[in-house]
Amino acid sequence: MITKHSPLGVIDSGVGGLTTVAALSKLLPGENVIYCGDNGNAPYGNRTGAEIVELTSHMLRYLANRGVKMVAVACNTISTTFDLPEFGGYQDQFGIPVLSIVRAAAEDVVHLRYQSVGVIATAFTIASRCYPTLIDELDPDITVFGEPSVNLAALIEQGDLTSPAIDAEVTSHLDDLLNAHAVRDIVLGCTHYPILQPLFEAKAPHVAFINPAKDQARDVRLQLVKSGLLLHGSHDTVGSLEINTSGTRPVFDTVLNELGITREYTLTEHVDYSSVSAS
Ligand code: DGL
Repeated sequence: MITKHSPLGVIDSGVGGLTTVAALSKLLPGENVIYCGDNGNAPYGNRTGAEIVELTSHMLRYLANRGVKMVAVACNTISTTFDLPEFGGYQDQFGIPVLSIVRAAAEDVVHLRYQSVGVIATAFTIASRCYPTLIDELDPDITVFGEPSVNLAALIEQGDLTSPAIDAEVTSHLDDLLNAHAVRDIVLGCTHYPILQPLFEAKAPHVAFINPAKDQARDVRLQLVKSGLLLHGSHDTVGSLEINTSGTRPVFDTVLNELGITREYTLTEHVDYSSVSAS
């Protein structure tokens, strides 16, 4: 039975969703979290929609079987598939509320009343036009400029956050976007990118970078309150963090440290979500 004591699920193609875990740890520190990263199959952003839907379905079924009360989809690429008509709202088949990070970020952009905004994201997210479509539905006066990155998430997954390749990639995307459009606000529209937020800020100090993980944490809190499932712990109670990955451990240690996530965690490597989800 689902109660407020049930854990929250968080999923991503890899380590990017730890940005949502960081934001949840600040906002809702008492909640217990089960994280699923599909690092063995990342990056998702260069895959087809059908592949992303199949891989995501395995993680969602796995989490449904684990009795989570809600899933925060801390992956923009996955979240865009929820709004593509060809996939028929597949995220609703698992009997648990599934929250899109793109919706949370799009609502924030509208709420902040930007006139124009840049979005740097994976090739799939940009090609889906999910950000411009959702923002346009809420406020047609906001112009959205997209900048796709084919390599950045994969480079971050390699775990060397100070590599020259990452530096060059960030420079090139900022140059492309800022030379073409006079934007002062940019959504880091792939959850891997806010891991590098200090680098983005150092390279473009006049730009405000939006981290959708913070919007998602607020949305999780709102949805838990609405459904009566918020765990009211004392503020110094720290919930458990269980990490599962179809890849390996080292990149998690690096990114947890980079994001300042200090809570204790357990980690299981080489998880095959397709076999566990069937049980
Ligand atoms: N972290 C994911 C996102 O927010 C995607 C990275 C990938 O391409 O796997 O879009």
